[in-house]
Amino acid sequence: MKKIVQVALLFLSLSLFSQNTIPIPDTLTGTNITLTMHKDSMVILPGKKTKTLAYNSFNFLGPTLIFNKWQAVNATVINQIGDTTTLHWHGLHIAAKNDGGPHTQILNGASSNPQFTILNNASMYWYHPHFMGKTAEQAIKGASGLIIVRDSAEAALTLPRKYGIDDVPLIVKCLQLDSNNQFMPKGMQDSTLLVNGVTSAQYSLPAQVVRLRLLNGSGERTFNFGFTGNKQFYVIGNDGGLLNAPVPVYRIRLSPGERADVLVNLNGMNGQTIYLMSYASELPSGVQGGPTMSMPAGSPPMNSPLNGINFNILKLNIGSQTANPVTTIPSTLVPVNPYPQTQANLTRNITFTADSIMVMDGPFYFNNLSFDMMRIDYKIPLGQTEIWTLMDSTMVAHPFHVHDVQFFILDRDGNSPPPEERGWKDVVLVEPNETVRIIMKFTDFTDSVIPYMYHCHILMHEDDGMMGQFVVMPQGWTGIQSSVRETENISTYPNPTSSILSIDSRNSGKIESITIFDLLGNKVLEIKTNYLVKINVDVSMLTSGPYITHIYSSNGIVNKKFFKE
Ligand code: C2O
Ligand code: CU
Ligand code: CU
Repeated sequence: MKKIVQVALLFLSLSLFSQNTIPIPDTLTGTNITLTMHKDSMVILPGKKTKTLAYNSFNFLGPTLIFNKWQAVNATVINQIGDTTTLHWHGLHIAAKNDGGPHTQILNGASSNPQFTILNNASMYWYHPHFMGKTAEQAIKGASGLIIVRDSAEAALTLPRKYGIDDVPLIVKCLQLDSNNQFMPKGMQDSTLLVNGVTSAQYSLPAQVVRLRLLNGSGERTFNFGFTGNKQFYVIGNDGGLLNAPVPVYRIRLSPGERADVLVNLNGMNGQTIYLMSYASELPSGVQGGPTMSMPAGSPPMNSPLNGINFNILKLNIGSQTANPVTTIPSTLVPVNPYPQTQANLTRNITFTADSIMVMDGPFYFNNLSFDMMRIDYKIPLGQTEIWTLMDSTMVAHPFHVHDVQFFILDRDGNSPPPEERGWKDVVLVEPNETVRIIMKFTDFTDSVIPYMYHCHILMHEDDGMMGQFVVMPQGWTGIQSSVRETENISTYPNPTSSILSIDSRNSGKIESITIFDLLGNKVLEIKTNYLVKINVDVSMLTSGPYITHIYSSNGIVNKKFFKE
């Protein structure tokens, strides 16, 4: 009996919700911005209303903030959700104390007042909560909104810029609802597809060159965007700015947190209908949203009906042209000059790990360490250029995100990234067994106390500890250029040394393994120690110079610098 009712309801929902025109979020501009986060609800499926979190007058999502490069922002963020939150400005290059990470909490009923200058390139960024352990819950319930930055370089180009007319922001979220129509932040059977907050989405576009600004705002799903009929389109920008030139493509893959600025040429198509789709059948099975893998026993259900199939996301009804339409794709955009590899002062190795290779839902870690708000993983001197080598040793793909900076992808498994990924990025998807190297420079802001985050943007992985933190140290700081555990009791001596380096836990813990790196991040020595409290390491064969020792012990990881004479 119950089944029959459910089937009937499903049928009803399909017929009731034929097509919904997507709302285009209202905009806020100017210096003084107020965002009030509150509880709300909305109808997504027939039956119970879905409880949401939203900003200002919205019942899902929030206003689009439109800023000009170099302008000042004086934001007031008011928390009325009945729980602690934060507001993070994803992609913006601002001081750590304004960044809205887990350390800058806003208690219920309180407000915060971040003030900053817009230093980013013209592109689309976004804001969302970042409260420790609750990012998934709060962001998935709807607390997120867009930030569009404009600048003079972009303004000089002939590009569609009429917001909501030929320049359309699309926040694509795929979510799981329970039988009471409530969001399940950690559910992996996500099949409720929302564009700007509505299901069965449609929109009307003029028959000219239009610009779609795509954000994958999902908790976990990766989309492989394309159009019906394999219509070609052009990627003009990545997360943090425009590309050198438009890149013609048939697909653009976006993992959670990633954005793409694309142009679609609809000239001469008045009266036609096309769909924005996800060609998920082309995704590898390790990418969430790709074909569901055969799962080890005990795994959580993750067989969303959308996994591994091609599905429609947004119906596009093409109508007549606007006044002064853009009708051509520009041949060039803005100069983009990735940092040269030779500029890097340091390489860090970040391996994505899990308790076992069979783990599919987490927890996942960086270098086997779970997030610890009290542990600063990296201290980075101001002005330093770094290469981070990201290696995924788990069986699922992870979108890796760094706060503070925009980076460039140097290579994927040693190969240059595809042309549509050669711009400014702040999230990069790393597939199982893949090694991705990114390069970035830490400029402008220092704070030796409040850290910036780096994390997986699959929100439940982030909440479960797949996150680390770094501080950018003031000019003149000359400390250990690597992760430091602040409270530790392992000593290494003598320093400098010519032959033997003693590593001594002073009976306070057992040393499990020792890895020694040179300052370029190359591993020069690795020792498994059989859980000793003290060990003498022969370093006589190392060439003279500074080295960093990573000591894994029963008390955690400790890093020590020493000098080989
Ligand atoms: Cu969009 Cu730290 O996140
Ligand atoms: Cu961010
Ligand atoms: Cu992850």
